[in-house]
Amino acid sequence: MDKPFRRRDLLGIRNLSAGEIVGILNTAENFREINQREIKKVPTLRGKTVINLFFENSTRTRTSFELAAKRLSADAVNISVSSSSVTKGETLVDTAMNLDAMQPDCIVVRHGSAGVPHQLAKVSKAAIVNAGDGANEHPTQALLDAMTIREHKGKIDGLEVAIIGDILHSRVARSNIHLLTKLGAKVRVAGPKTLVPNDFAHLVENDLQVSEHIEDAIDGADVVMILRIQKERQDSAFFPTLREYSIHYGLTNERLDLARKDAIVLHPGPMNRGIEISSDVADSSRSLILDQVKYGVAVRMAVLYLATGGTAISE
Ligand code: CP
Repeated sequence: MDKPFRRRDLLGIRNLSAGEIVGILNTAENFREINQREIKKVPTLRGKTVINLFFENSTRTRTSFELAAKRLSADAVNISVSSSSVTKGETLVDTAMNLDAMQPDCIVVRHGSAGVPHQLAKVSKAAIVNAGDGANEHPTQALLDAMTIREHKGKIDGLEVAIIGDILHSRVARSNIHLLTKLGAKVRVAGPKTLVPNDFAHLVENDLQVSEHIEDAIDGADVVMILRIQKERQDSAFFPTLREYSIHYGLTNERLDLARKDAIVLHPGPMNRGIEISSDVADSSRSLILDQVKYGVAVRMAVLYLATGGTAISE
C-alpha cells in the first residue's frame, strides 16, 4: 500500500491514492470512540481555529464539521454567508483572503460552483477542506460512506456497489466512484439517460458499469447507494415528472430484493421520501443512513486533524 495522507488540503478524492484514503479511514476509526464517551472532548486540536464557510445550505456536513472541531477542542467559527459582506458584493477570493488574514488553521468551504476550494487553496495559508463544490466532489461524504461500508461489510475490495439516480448533478457520486474503484470495488451506475453522462465510464481508470435500468444495477449488489434528486441543480426537465421518476428509479423493497440478501442501503441525505427511496426501505434494518451521519463526525475529526498537521494511521 502506498503512503498515507500527508497533504494540507483535502480538495477531492480524485487525486488521492488508495493508501491516502485508507490512512484517513484508519484515522477516523481511531477518533470514533471519542463520540461514544460521556464527555465527548479531547484536547487534540486545542489552540487551533477552524472556519466553516458555507455558501450553500447544509444540515449534516456543517453540523458535523462543527462538532468534529469542538470535540477535538478547536475553536470553530461558522460564517453565515447571508449575513456576511458577500451580500455587499465582496468577491469570494477577497472574502477568503480576509478570513485567512485572521490566521485560522483550516477553512472548510462549501460552494455551488465546482473548483472553488481549489481556487481558495491557491490564496490561503490555512488548509482548505472541500465540503462540496457544485457537481464536482464531496470528499468527506465519500469517506464517511466508505467508513460505513467497511464497518458493515468488513472490506471494500471486491464489493459490487450500485449507485442509482441523478449521477449528472451528484458530487457524491463522483467522489464515491473515485474512492470505491480506487479501493477495488466494482461500481455500477444507473439512472435516466438524461442524468447519466454519456462519457461517465471514462471518469475513472477502472471499469464502471453504466445502465439505464435500476434493476440491472441492483441485481446481486452488496451495497445500494441512492442519490437525491437535486432539484436545485436542474435548470431544465431531465425527466417528465417526479412521479414518473419514482416509478422507474425509486428504490422499493421489491427492487431491493434483487440485491444480495445481506445488501446494505446508503443515502447521503437529505432524502426525498417517496421519490428516490420509499419510506419502507429508508426505515428498514438494511438502511444505514443514520450510521452514515454518525460516522461523518469521526471522518471530519480525522480530516481536521490531518489538515492541521496530524499524522495518518497507515494500518
Ligand atoms: N450529505 C450532505 O452533504 O448533507 P448536507 O447537505 O445536509 O450537508
